[in-house]
Amino acid sequence: MMVRLVIDGKQIKVDGHLHVLAAARKLGIHIPTFCHHPMLSELGACRMCLVEVEGMGKLQTACTLAVLDGMEIRTNTPRVQKARRMMLEFFLINHPLECTVCDASGDCALQDISFKFGSGETRFGEKKRILRDHIISPLIDRNLNRCIQCKRCVRICDEIQGVTALGMSYRGAQTIVGPFMEKSLDCEYCGHCIWVCPVGAITSRAMKERFRTWEMDKTEAICPYCSVGCTLVYNHRNNKVLKVTNAENRGVNYGSLCSRGYFGYDAINNPERLRSPLIRKGDELVEASWEEALEEISRGFGEVKKTSGGNSIGGVVSDRLTNEELYLFQKIFRVGFESNNVDTPTGNWNRLVLPILEKRLGVLAAPNSLDELNYVESLLLVGCDITVESPIAGLKIKAAIRKGASVTELIPRRTALSRLAGRTVLLDVGNEVTFIKGMMRVMLDEGLVDEEALSDYKGMKALRGSVGGLDLEKMASDAGVSVNDITQTAREFISAGKSSVIFGEEAALGPNGGDLINALIDLLMLTGRLGKEGCGIYPVLSNTNFQGVVDMGVSPGHLPGWVQVGSSGGVKTLEKTWDAVLPKKPGMNANEMFAAAGKGKLSALYLVGVNPVVTFPDRQMIEEALARVKFLVVQELFLTETASSAHVVLPACGLPEKDGTLTSIDRRVQLSKKAQDGAGKTMPDWRIFSEVGVSMGVEGLKYVNSAEVLDEISSVVPYYSGINYRILADHGIQWPFTRQDAQEVYSEGYLGTRHLLPDSVPDVKRSFAAVEGWGGFARDPDYPLTLLVGNLLMHSGSFTGYSESLNQLVGRAVLTMNEATGAGLDIEDGSRVKVVSPGGEVAVGVKFSNDLLPGVLFLPRHFSDVPVSRLMGENGAGLETAVVRVRVEKF
Ligand code: SF4
Ligand code: SF4
Ligand code: SF4
Ligand code: FES
Repeated sequence: MMVRLVIDGKQIKVDGHLHVLAAARKLGIHIPTFCHHPMLSELGACRMCLVEVEGMGKLQTACTLAVLDGMEIRTNTPRVQKARRMMLEFFLINHPLECTVCDASGDCALQDISFKFGSGETRFGEKKRILRDHIISPLIDRNLNRCIQCKRCVRICDEIQGVTALGMSYRGAQTIVGPFMEKSLDCEYCGHCIWVCPVGAITSRAMKERFRTWEMDKTEAICPYCSVGCTLVYNHRNNKVLKVTNAENRGVNYGSLCSRGYFGYDAINNPERLRSPLIRKGDELVEASWEEALEEISRGFGEVKKTSGGNSIGGVVSDRLTNEELYLFQKIFRVGFESNNVDTPTGNWNRLVLPILEKRLGVLAAPNSLDELNYVESLLLVGCDITVESPIAGLKIKAAIRKGASVTELIPRRTALSRLAGRTVLLDVGNEVTFIKGMMRVMLDEGLVDEEALSDYKGMKALRGSVGGLDLEKMASDAGVSVNDITQTAREFISAGKSSVIFGEEAALGPNGGDLINALIDLLMLTGRLGKEGCGIYPVLSNTNFQGVVDMGVSPGHLPGWVQVGSSGGVKTLEKTWDAVLPKKPGMNANEMFAAAGKGKLSALYLVGVNPVVTFPDRQMIEEALARVKFLVVQELFLTETASSAHVVLPACGLPEKDGTLTSIDRRVQLSKKAQDGAGKTMPDWRIFSEVGVSMGVEGLKYVNSAEVLDEISSVVPYYSGINYRILADHGIQWPFTRQDAQEVYSEGYLGTRHLLPDSVPDVKRSFAAVEGWGGFARDPDYPLTLLVGNLLMHSGSFTGYSESLNQLVGRAVLTMNEATGAGLDIEDGSRVKVVSPGGEVAVGVKFSNDLLPGVLFLPRHFSDVPVSRLMGENGAGLETAVVRVRVEKF
């Protein structure tokens, strides 16, 4: 219902659910506040927002007072002004006057409001309260004396982050804010409390007393640490990023960040950064100029191409590069080397997931948007710790839970969401398909499926057959769950109006990933709502630009726009644009390239941002392969184990040092802007590729800037055709976004395609897969335990390992296991063990955690001192394989 009211003589008509504060802000009337924050519940504690309301005797708090029809408000009368002065005087009784040494100075609501509304004098000459304080965390600083007890930090930690790491203790003037029992802060380090503290009571220790806020320039950019693509603000001075702040109400994250986004920025300024090209002279890598390095590359690759052909050159590139860079990398190979040997470490994931999505739904990405997770009503998370893989997607799910969503996790370990999720089914790896088929059986048996609405779907009979003959009790007991878990999850999932599915690496790259993805699509199809608002399937990989890898054609079998190598149509457009005849046969994937190099069948490698010596399964095989190639070029930010064996090392810029676009998990193409110059002589990867191409005499690789590269991408990838830097300057665009969209609807606020399947699954794709198998993960008596390899909240990939701040939180790998598992192995908490798989072994310390299912172990993948990749590799395991059978031996 809309209501009319008058504020300071101005009439306004607003939604009746608003408070006076919001109505006043709509009129541009500023009412000072401390405890109010738009993301948080109302508190009405600070009394800074007092206003006069006609007919009400006492002054009222504008942040809690609901608007009513006919209300007359005055926000700046002498009475209101006096009340504000008195409140400020009250706050300053104890608040220390130490702005000169406070990190919040220049960005402090108390300072600003005191200047604007305070009297400049005090009637209180008593000694100020001085509270004893101590360091509560390595990265978050607390100053009790500056706290004005607005509880914003406490509320945001509880209401938004769902962690409840902060609380208020004691009473009156002795009230303090802090962790439980004043112990060390045990939390997710999202930085939300720093963001919302209106004064300098909670600040970042990472840059304590190092700069003034007004001395810094600010650049909005995209976080480099996962595929959500959060918007953040780099604060920089003298060409150095000094801190990150939140971009209030901007981007897919609306300002929120996770620990990696908030504290991980210092990796870029790590003193170990490569600063100059290096060329091998005998056993040594020596500094060289760019001219010398490019000449050497031109000679090296040129010679190999001439003597062994372009197919003898292979390239593997990191998925953290920008779209422009990924595009140019594959273009050098296809046009310059006439080779399709290009891949990324996420190639296996793309080769598994995309063909299924394409075949079943006709899409090349998640069909729905991340924002829909905010109001999903039922959510199934399979093999995915979303709060770690994509923390801000996890934050959206937490918001949905607060609104009453039923969330079920199928995962062999409890996650940060488990505390809040309705149901966490501790399901052993390999049993996911069984569980999903059980759910479909319940839906069909209980008549919950609207079969009439699905009458045009093919394969219903086969689906019934595939789930019909099973014994639910036996199946539940085989999967180690209860029948009730299956039936309740099924009922909730189909009865909710908006049901979605998220699956992660652990499930998709586990023993029966293909069947699982197909079964999940069947499950969603049974609801009859797949693809509609709130009814999506989200493949979640944390790798930053894995969607860009697909779109830019960094694949041995696919060109930009996921055009199949050797097909007609799209290939012609590319050949015309590139003025080249493209190789017709698919190339080798990364695994095949290294294997071929080891056998002397590949003579040169160009590795960009990847460190296979550490991250690929068989270190010995990789080292032999690298030693055997005639020419190895590594383009990197750091002198990694792989770079150390290169013939030429090219120093590259990190994301804050360049302009470029990234495509997020929900197809959002976003522009990340440069905040500082590259370290030393580093260059952005796009420019290096351009220079390499030009130095080798490859036509069509000369670009003035990365914007020009995106223009070319838009001309060859139809679903990017309306996207350019001008359009991306202020916000991301979700593809498909065509030239016609840019001309016709962009000006009306259209920011791309939120749903790839707006009217559900296209007719031609309406078909159930009716998966026959049941899954399971073969037991091997020699390797009886299941090892999960994954990310940590504080780290993703290897780049965060260069962040001093994040390493202060978690700086080494630990093997976690259930206490019962430890007891069975006669191992104690803290002891050191050997983890042995068919592929190799690593030594590591143990930590007990009963969050894990007995028999299941977890190891993070980030730390080079515990190279978990050595454990993989046998039984066809690929680069990203997240699950492997192992045994644990005592030292
Ligand atoms: S950093 Fe985040 S999780 Fe930690 S106390 Fe602050 S709001 Fe809570
Ligand atoms: S620490 Fe900051 S946000 Fe928390 S109660 Fe004190 S002033 Fe408010
Ligand atoms: S959720 Fe991902 S993109 Fe967002 S801040 Fe965290 S790591 Fe960065
Ligand atoms: S802002 Fe209204 S009472 Fe604090």
